[in-house]
Amino acid sequence: MKNIKFYSGKQIPLEMHKAKVIQKINLSPVDDRLKYVNEAGNNQFLLKNQNIFLDMLTDSGVNAISDKQQAATMTTDDAYAGSKSYYILEEKLKEIFGMDFFLPVHQGRACESLLAKTFVKEGDVIPMNYHFTTTKAHIMLNGGRVEELAGDEALECDSDNPFKGNFDLDKLKACIREVGKEHIPFLRFEAGTNLIGGQPISLKNMKEVSAICRENGILTVLDASLLQDNLFFIKTREEEYKDWSVRQITRAIADEMDIIYFSARKLGFSRGGGICLRTKELKDALRDLVTLHEGFLTYGGMSITEIVSIAQGLEETMDIDMISQGPMFIKYMVEELDKRGVPVVKPAGGLGCHIDARSFLPHVADEEYPAASLTAAIYIAAGVRTMERGTVSEERNPDGSEHIAAVELVRCALPRRVFTRSQIDYAVDRIHWLYDNRELIGGLKFVEEPKTLRFFLGRLAPTSDWQEKLVAKFKQDFPGAY
Ligand code: F0G
Repeated sequence: MKNIKFYSGKQIPLEMHKAKVIQKINLSPVDDRLKYVNEAGNNQFLLKNQNIFLDMLTDSGVNAISDKQQAATMTTDDAYAGSKSYYILEEKLKEIFGMDFFLPVHQGRACESLLAKTFVKEGDVIPMNYHFTTTKAHIMLNGGRVEELAGDEALECDSDNPFKGNFDLDKLKACIREVGKEHIPFLRFEAGTNLIGGQPISLKNMKEVSAICRENGILTVLDASLLQDNLFFIKTREEEYKDWSVRQITRAIADEMDIIYFSARKLGFSRGGGICLRTKELKDALRDLVTLHEGFLTYGGMSITEIVSIAQGLEETMDIDMISQGPMFIKYMVEELDKRGVPVVKPAGGLGCHIDARSFLPHVADEEYPAASLTAAIYIAAGVRTMERGTVSEERNPDGSEHIAAVELVRCALPRRVFTRSQIDYAVDRIHWLYDNRELIGGLKFVEEPKTLRFFLGRLAPTSDWQEKLVAKFKQDFPGAY
């Protein structure tokens, strides 16, 4: 994004792209929305897309792709083994990250599964700034546990710390001392953090942490799924790197890592995923699991068209005009909600605008899932699908007790280049209305609860008739409107 100033002085996020292909969307009436959300067990993952007006569940696989990405898919060759598309992607990754080895997989969690299977043994500890749902589940499945070592401010929703995703170096040193480096096969950086509001980690912090890992012989692993936003934040918030190109910053980050893995549903704006490795030994340690679980080494479960589309998407990720769009729209939404008093995670991060559901619904107990309740309320009031990122997204403790999440967030994801400002204004308006009527929103309880990753398929029911009361108030305040 260029430095464009409006005559009025107002800061408005200005798109550096135009729409070529569009999709019609529908807004169903409020009574239908109430019915749909209950048919879906009050779980946003179980709603049908045709019944959703604005889908702010995730950016995963739903960022708009560029004309050049689309074009690339038309000119590639297809083969079970040795297809040209693989070599195009391998070359692009080498150029951007400077790592010589690459293993393709079908999506991000496959990287996590292979890394956990290869490196994590019973009793091991994986330090990280913050966990992600699938990452933690794979580590736990292999007998390990996660230590979250971000600074205390990471969990403060209202803050002006520009890098809440940073590791606390003292916590890291203490963790290595207590656990013993022989029980720490690798440390994982998440840049930026998904579950605490897309908060970034600074390049300075990555360098400091990786120096500690090197001293202790601990492998450094970067989850780069959300890297594009983090690159933007380093360039715009970290004084030392403001004149560096996105490409230079990317390489400086990669230079600190032994392994970089990513969900290409996010990074590269396509589908699939992959693992870049610094040495042949590391590649060989993982290689056979790829052919066993994912596919041959030149496709790893991805289609050929996806592979070339990732290569083009990665090249476009080096363009500040492109990677600024998400964070600037998110900042706009955060500021508009903040102005109306709605508790949001600050500073604005990547991936989406995050609402602090605990502050929004202080009368809903943690055990009745405030964030999940708020996602249901937002769908009823607006037809907008958002994502619960709180206790429902946690795994239960090994003894079966509820693991109350450190933060209870509702994520309004803003997939890149998908929504218009008026659509964001609509979502802000309805969330504002809900905030003014927040006392009407009640809790949820599980009626069907899967053992792992329960947030995907679990079904919940309201603990009272609060949803009917909310619909009645909506009709009173918006007579004749959807
Ligand atoms: N790591 C991070 C930081 C992620 O955000 C995700 C996915 C993954 C790994 C797993 O990748 O979905 O391709 O298997 N996040 C999505 C989301 C699902 O909606 O935030 P995947």
